Amino acid sequence: MFIASVIYAPVFAKSITGSSPDGKIEVTIADTHSPSYSITLNQLPILTDSKLGLRFKQVSELGEGFSIQAVKQVAHHSTWQQPWGERKQVVDHHNEILVTFVANQDAKRLFAVRFRVFNDGVGFRYEVPKQPGLDSHIDITNELTEFAIADTKDSTAWWIPSRGWNRYEYIYQTSALSSVDRVHTPFTFKLGNGAHVSIHEAALVDYASMTLQQMRGGVLKADLTPWSDGVLVKKTADFTTPWRTIQVSEDAIGLLNSDLILNLNEPTTFADTSWIEPGKYVGIWWGMHIAENTWGSGEKHGATTAETKRYMDFAAEYGFDGVLVEGWNIGWDGDWYNNGDVFNFTQAYDDFDIKEITQHGLAKGVRLIGHHETSGNVTNYRNQMDDAFALYQKHGVRQVKTGYVADGGNIKRIDDQGIVRKEWHDGQFMVNEYLHNVKQAAKYQISINTHEPIKDTGLRRTYPNWISREGARGQEYNAWGSPPNPPEHLPILAFTRMLSGPMDFTPGTFDMGFKGLGADTDRPQTTLAKQLAMYVVIYSPIQMASDLPRNYEKNLEAFQFIQDVPVDWHESKAIAGEVGEYVAFARQERGGEDWFVGALTNEDPRKLSLALDFLDKNKTYEAQIYRDGDSANWINNPYDILIEKKHVQASDTLKIPMASSGGFAIRFKAL
Ligand code: NOJ
Ligand code: CA
Repeated sequence: MFIASVIYAPVFAKSITGSSPDGKIEVTIADTHSPSYSITLNQLPILTDSKLGLRFKQVSELGEGFSIQAVKQVAHHSTWQQPWGERKQVVDHHNEILVTFVANQDAKRLFAVRFRVFNDGVGFRYEVPKQPGLDSHIDITNELTEFAIADTKDSTAWWIPSRGWNRYEYIYQTSALSSVDRVHTPFTFKLGNGAHVSIHEAALVDYASMTLQQMRGGVLKADLTPWSDGVLVKKTADFTTPWRTIQVSEDAIGLLNSDLILNLNEPTTFADTSWIEPGKYVGIWWGMHIAENTWGSGEKHGATTAETKRYMDFAAEYGFDGVLVEGWNIGWDGDWYNNGDVFNFTQAYDDFDIKEITQHGLAKGVRLIGHHETSGNVTNYRNQMDDAFALYQKHGVRQVKTGYVADGGNIKRIDDQGIVRKEWHDGQFMVNEYLHNVKQAAKYQISINTHEPIKDTGLRRTYPNWISREGARGQEYNAWGSPPNPPEHLPILAFTRMLSGPMDFTPGTFDMGFKGLGADTDRPQTTLAKQLAMYVVIYSPIQMASDLPRNYEKNLEAFQFIQDVPVDWHESKAIAGEVGEYVAFARQERGGEDWFVGALTNEDPRKLSLALDFLDKNKTYEAQIYRDGDSANWINNPYDILIEKKHVQASDTLKIPMASSGGFAIRFKAL
């Protein structure tokens, strides 16, 4: 017994502290009880002692009983360029701490945790080298990572539930942190001490998605989405995990002005990215969502040759790059939600002539945007994927929207033995399947816009043809959502979902009365000016003008903003905002001098004071302002919009009112 107690006696507890380049954020890694870390901002606790470790089916855990054996610290400062994005130049400035933990009883058992401490937060990942027991197939049964929130007493969290049937498409909840159970990331909260924090992950590749579960009060634990057989992650050493990210800021907009997630992704290996085309598009789409058309064949079939040509003419006239067409391929008749087995990705309905359509469009500089709805039957899709991309490439298609409409936990795959398995959209199998789709598409110079996706974790840096995705409630919910997205949806989305990357929200509804106005119908609960503001606030390198052409033709004056707004930016700055309340962005177009501002509010009207100090000091601009009229409100007067022009300079401040669920959009045209 004595001998045993000597062997099991803890080695001298060690800890190591590293800080962000500006010294405000500190991370301490310790092995006092078992491996753990903690984080402070300006010396105030953000995360207290939080466990680290991994548990496996085949061997005992990497965690408890391990001590710090080695520490390596490196400072890093570099700049890299994005082919498209919110900004052209991205600065990567961080201090790295690589900590190796070794088992107290067996020096051959070890793992490392690599921390990177930025001015805007912290990232860390596990690195597991080959070692006895970990040199062939291994099943992870538990990731022990914790995020122990300091000071939960007066904190507020904004979240959607994880492991639910509706994937990421829930209305955001605002609650005390203590009432959170299982949630998706980005998980954003504000501590009693005023700090804003968002937990997410970066570079999710060949691993299960990390959701969070509150264990004891204030301790959120990694809750990895399982495979259909219950295993969380299947791996072979050596391996690294995705980065666990903790964005930390003194104020709310600091979370938005952060490149931490992109910085933790690998640089791209694509030599040529010229075929990846940001752009604006219209589509045969909204008509189906408001039941004016059908995806399936018949009298109301939307995807006909004549209708697509009409959309292409409209696109060409108003400067759009593409026309999305849904419902052109066989498989939509009947219950397409549950008939993923019958989708044919190359065969068109009789009334759709892909050759005639694409020739018509290309002659006018408009491309067809392809669509692959799988209804969650990923084996059926995979069997046809190459032929489907080849067909589109032949017809000049450069972008495909994919869809995985299926309930959470109901993705259908057929394994090697022919057995049907049902997977989650965010388990390791689908993480790999979504990326496979993007990699295959690249071979055909096609970019992918994934709907019902895996959440974004910054992989666009490595795979810049992953051009956008959904991954939250988009505009479609305003057609049939019951309830539709509430007025606070976008000012929450900006600080949660949008931290992960671009979203194909599909803004731009001009006719909000398709089922009548008022507070109780399915309709966008916004003003018209707020619809315009979305083009600047909700970042995506592809933006849809999602309403029907006839509704834009009725209001060409307001439509002008959608025509003018760029989708690719030289620089972006969040300039004002509070989570769930309001948010404002200023962005400068790439390859031009104009600036654009978008601002939007929840149900509370407010006046925003806008210092124009982002503008070039030596220039005068014409501000083209699209704002809520004085009697606008989202419930019964959403169309009241005031369009005015005035000359401004960087030293000016504009005071602009926003109506209840309103907003404004401004183009600053350099003179
Ligand atoms: C869900 C997508 O989000 C939506 O945009 C699309 O129209 C339908 N699936 C059909 O594919
Ligand atoms: Ca959807």
